Amino acid sequence: MNDELTEYIRRSIAQNEKNVQEMLKKEKQSKAMKLLNKSGLGSRFAKRTFETFDTANLSPEALNAYKIAYEFATRFPNVEKGLLFTGPVGTGKTHLAAAIANELISKLYSVIFGNVIDILTLVKSTYRRDSELTEAEMIRTFTDNVDILVIDDLGKENATENSTTVIYQIINRLYENERPIIVTTNFSSAVLRKKLGEKGDAIVSRLAEMCEFVKVSGEDWRLKRWAQ
Ligand SMILES: Nc1ncnc2c1ncn2[C@@H]1O[C@H](COP(=O)(O)OP(=O)(O)O)[C@@H](O)[C@H]1O
Ligand SMILES: [Mg+2]
Repeated sequence: MNDELTEYIRRSIAQNEKNVQEMLKKEKQSKAMKLLNKSGLGSRFAKRTFETFDTANLSPEALNAYKIAYEFATRFPNVEKGLLFTGPVGTGKTHLAAAIANELISKLYSVIFGNVIDILTLVKSTYRRDSELTEAEMIRTFTDNVDILVIDDLGKENATENSTTVIYQIINRLYENERPIIVTTNFSSAVLRKKLGEKGDAIVSRLAEMCEFVKVSGEDWRLKRWAQ
């Protein structure tokens, strides 16, 4: 065979191999997306937008949190850090995180918004023998093919060794790839560290580097409505 022909065959084989890999990747992605849709992740927060966030009579901290959230959504993807909303229950943390998610989705960015418990349930569903995805593939769905991941209510989950390892893997992958994350939590960094168990220090220290900390305070909106 002449050199040209050998080279031609070699390149065709390489191209074929590449096409097969691409196809497999797409197939995995669509399986992961189906699972995500089925889990309801990404669809429970449609009404929580900046427009429905009432800025009258807010505590200065909550107003500041609103401004930071709004600016983040306006500037994205030109943002240096992600955001970590922290504060007591009912103060609007999830609402603000959801408002950012909605705004980014309207600008056609891909966003996964999930309560930490739902995210863990989805990852754990891959341990079943008939699962079409491996745990690592599921984790990559949250970290690699998405413009931003929102983890709602970090620290609410039962801190088993497995759940903290999964959370660590997700956060560490985003950290290493310098991808942004939004987190909400009711807990201070010290409490969160303890709650997350063995990997608590590693998780919280990465989050401290990856995120701007945004305190939200004020009355519990749920109770306020209840009292009316
Ligand atoms: N400033 C606000 N304007 C309008 N609704 C709000 C505001 N803050 C909170 N809420 C509503 O109050 C409820 C509790 O807020 P949420 O964001 O879930 O609290 P957190 O996540 O801090 O516990 C939600 O229904 C939310 O939409
Ligand atoms: Mg919340």
